[in-house]
Amino acid sequence: MTTEMPTIMGTDLRTPQAAEAADAARRQSGEPSGLRPRPAPEGMKRLFVKTWGCQMNVYDSGRMADVLAPLGYAPAETAEGADMVILNTCHIREKAAEKLFSELGRLRAAKQAKEAAGGRMVLAVAGCVAQAEGAEITARAPYVDIVLGPQGYHRLPEMVARATRAAGAVIETDFPAEQKFDHLPEASAPQGPIAFLTIQEGCDKFCSFCVVPYTRGAEYSRPAAAVIAEARRLVAQGAREIALLGQNVNAWHGEGTDGATWNLARLLHALAEIPDLARLRYTTSHPRDMDEALIAAHGAIPQLMPFLHLPVQSGSDRVLRAMNRGHTADAFRRIADRLRAARADLALSSDFIAGHPGETAQDHAATLKLIEEIGFAQAFSFKYSPRPGTPAATAPLQVPEAEKDRRLHEIQSLLRDQQERFNRSREGIRCDILVTGLGRHPGQVAARSPWLQPVHAEAPAALIGQVVACEITEAHPNSLAARILGGAAGDHPREEKAAA
Ligand code: 5AD
Ligand code: SF4
Repeated sequence: MTTEMPTIMGTDLRTPQAAEAADAARRQSGEPSGLRPRPAPEGMKRLFVKTWGCQMNVYDSGRMADVLAPLGYAPAETAEGADMVILNTCHIREKAAEKLFSELGRLRAAKQAKEAAGGRMVLAVAGCVAQAEGAEITARAPYVDIVLGPQGYHRLPEMVARATRAAGAVIETDFPAEQKFDHLPEASAPQGPIAFLTIQEGCDKFCSFCVVPYTRGAEYSRPAAAVIAEARRLVAQGAREIALLGQNVNAWHGEGTDGATWNLARLLHALAEIPDLARLRYTTSHPRDMDEALIAAHGAIPQLMPFLHLPVQSGSDRVLRAMNRGHTADAFRRIADRLRAARADLALSSDFIAGHPGETAQDHAATLKLIEEIGFAQAFSFKYSPRPGTPAATAPLQVPEAEKDRRLHEIQSLLRDQQERFNRSREGIRCDILVTGLGRHPGQVAARSPWLQPVHAEAPAALIGQVVACEITEAHPNSLAARILGGAAGDHPREEKAAA
């Protein structure tokens, strides 16, 4: 498959319920996702949030809605007629700014219509594009009322108040992350059986190709006590699985509840003590931060699911050096071996970039070799695309587009085969699944396997929110079918092949 947009294969942590397929299609097309809408109660103001990008942005959109709820804003289904519209942007993908400006063009008409009818629509641009291109936004779209970076969300109520008075736009893009987390209210809207919890933000690693260090700022870890309190709240609201989020989540090193500095392994052990929290995951990690304690945690914490997204980007040491990744291909191989030694059924996912500047045919062959050797359960692969302001954008030896397309195609067909093989290898296996919601067909439920695959099974809706034992009956390219086994999870030996 050759495409201008980075192409995404398989499933990821972004979709808690049965909407995986729709969401994957949305992400393939670069379409944004809306906040789960609920009808606005009588007399409330209507808030529409449109979200592009990663799960951290989805989380942030939820928190912005939380922060605005006390001001009387309730989620709306469409931007038309809304009292406030927030576009929560992502800069990591190509053409982020163009997509934003075309969306703004559409919203301008909706805003004018509302104003012609005597109303008011506050228009806000948030997220990484706001951070990086605040001045450009206010120059090109002067009808935007608020521009705020990812660290300014706790200031939204004040900014909304100022915007409703101000003539020009209110711009806030320079707050440290500590303030954001200290000042955001407790999350209010239940997220469902699978919940997301941001524990870390930002990145100091400066990979040659990446905008995150410039848009999300320096690494910041939330204190353990705040994370544990939020996790307990999520569980009380019905979460059975929590995915810890961070751009560099395994670099988390926060203040522990004992005053000492904890690492992620220590935090995971503490979270595993929360009753009724059946499953834990964390994403996205960097190979450089996979320390011994974290690898050992995969063997020691049963709640930690046997699936890890660990981007490697390339299998060539030369390219990894040019990317400033700080690890070699062999270092990645050793981490994979140690993880599998700690937990035999651990499956790996990764990110790959095809055609980074300077990448030769030999380097590309080394990436294919690494993929062959490791064997991934799923992965995301992207054609290198220059991001202004990053070192790789102006590096010599840019790879021609057609060659990048060819290499991406090779990487993707290998990864697609591996994903299908991995899914087929689950057929006949008995494992626990978390039932997350209703399935697409009547009488079906949607669930998650330990390896993050969407699963569907015939079962009553009463099972939603429960971890139940099942036997995988059939594998599809992007999902599994299962038969629910009677009894509680744990009654059946895990991963046992069913009798033929
Ligand atoms: N070009 C292509 N892919 C990129 N990614 C980040 N920046 C770029 C870029 N400039 C990919 C990396 C990263 C994932 C989130 O997006 O693989 O791990
Ligand atoms: Fe970007 Fe590299 Fe930081 Fe990941 S580790 S967010 S790819 S700079």
